[in-house]
Amino acid sequence: MTHNATLPPPGPQAGQDAAQQLTERWRDGRPGPLPRLMPAHEPADLRAHLERFGAPPYRGAPRRLIGDVEAAGLTGRGGAAFPTYRKLAAMTAGHGPAPVVVGNGAEGEPASHKDKTLLWFSPHLVLDGLQLAAEAVGSVTVGLYVHRDPRLYGWLEAAIGERATAGLDAARVELIEAPPRFLAGEKSALASKASGGTALPRFKPSRASQRGVSGRRTLVQNVETLAHLALIARHGAAWFRSAGTQDEPGSMLATLHQADGRTGVVETTLGTPIAGLLRLPARAVLVGGYHGAWLPAEQAGRLPLANAALRPLGAVVGAGVLAALPADRCGLAETARVASYLALESAGQCGPCFNGLPRMAGALEELAGPRPDPRVSADLERWSGLVDGRGACHHPDGTVRFVRSALRVFADEMDHHARGSCTGTSGRPFLPLPGQTPLDDADWR
Ligand SMILES: Cc1cc2nc3c(=O)[nH]c(=O)nc-3n(C[C@H](O)[C@H](O)[C@H](O)COP(=O)(O)O)c2cc1C
Ligand code: SF4
Repeated sequence: MTHNATLPPPGPQAGQDAAQQLTERWRDGRPGPLPRLMPAHEPADLRAHLERFGAPPYRGAPRRLIGDVEAAGLTGRGGAAFPTYRKLAAMTAGHGPAPVVVGNGAEGEPASHKDKTLLWFSPHLVLDGLQLAAEAVGSVTVGLYVHRDPRLYGWLEAAIGERATAGLDAARVELIEAPPRFLAGEKSALASKASGGTALPRFKPSRASQRGVSGRRTLVQNVETLAHLALIARHGAAWFRSAGTQDEPGSMLATLHQADGRTGVVETTLGTPIAGLLRLPARAVLVGGYHGAWLPAEQAGRLPLANAALRPLGAVVGAGVLAALPADRCGLAETARVASYLALESAGQCGPCFNGLPRMAGALEELAGPRPDPRVSADLERWSGLVDGRGACHHPDGTVRFVRSALRVFADEMDHHARGSCTGTSGRPFLPLPGQTPLDDADWR
């Protein structure tokens, strides 16, 4: 598999793959019906968008949409699955100047392509959602924060221009470039960058919702969340709930990494069996990306893609990344590579994270080699405990979840390495990482 994570993939190749898979889902007649979010064939310009969906259904005053979003049960698609209506309602309850609203399309996770794909195929659905969310919280200061890629940026600029010419919206949308760093999409990093600073997470208690862009209250929603919101505004809560489960309703975008190296973005319903998305068997399954968790493949093959089933096992749906590790790869080696990357991506502001993640990455590298020091896995557990929950942002917590899951799922492999052998027969890297890890301070700008 080849993958260049510093350049997002909304080019024709990725686009065709995604469109083809989405169309296949539609023909499958799976419940939903799907796709909801993406056009089946090609990126939608404003004319195509208005033909399919009509104009954004503005309500004429703040708050009016929030009840529908609550009834729909929409949760954030940026990773934490937080109820969207609660964030909207909190914005309307606050005091002071009107809030700022920013769509988060940073997608710094190298294994995730769903937001770039959505922005490429359905920019106007995201822009509708951004405008509707702004109206719901009484804001006219609106930004769209997107992964740095000139082609995507130009396409979105054109989409915003088309809407301005058509006089569609109340708020002017400012495009903001996100640097290609793992942490760039964390909400306080976003607020810092949108205020003219670096895309570094800020320390608590300066929460972005209370003191965000330029010190103002700021609503940050993932771009996929905004696209769902735009559809709820049109079709209502019951329609939204006709897909997904009672507790986790709706559809979601997932980035799939198959064991044969094929990747793609699909729209699926929450609660869909993982075995219906990944071609199994595999050596193991990574659920939720690099802040997610490994699961044994047989176990993952029996589970639905839903937090209710995954959380008791230490896993999360997250931003919808699923990867099937090929049978010929060593899970410890894959985990060590990603952990080294995550350690280098630490913003270096909090001691436990800055000091602990590189130690954990070093320990994993040793575990992935022949005959590691027998004390290393105990050290790793100890450092995990010291780092977990001790940062200004959730980067250390997510990294610890990923590493601990590897220790559980690849315990047999650790025994092999202790004896000086490895069951992986291919040394080719599987999980995607940026070609060259940026190390320069300027990369946060
Ligand atoms: C290290 C880190 C990276 C993150 N990156 C992103 C991102 O690229 N895109 C995103 O939407 N949310 C990202 N988040 C989550 C955001 O902080 C925020 O919760 C989210 O954008 C809120 O939108 P939602 O409620 O619609 O999911 C990240 C969080 C962390 C801890
Ligand atoms: S926890 Fe780590 S990544 Fe997050 S702000 Fe602190 S040093 Fe940076």
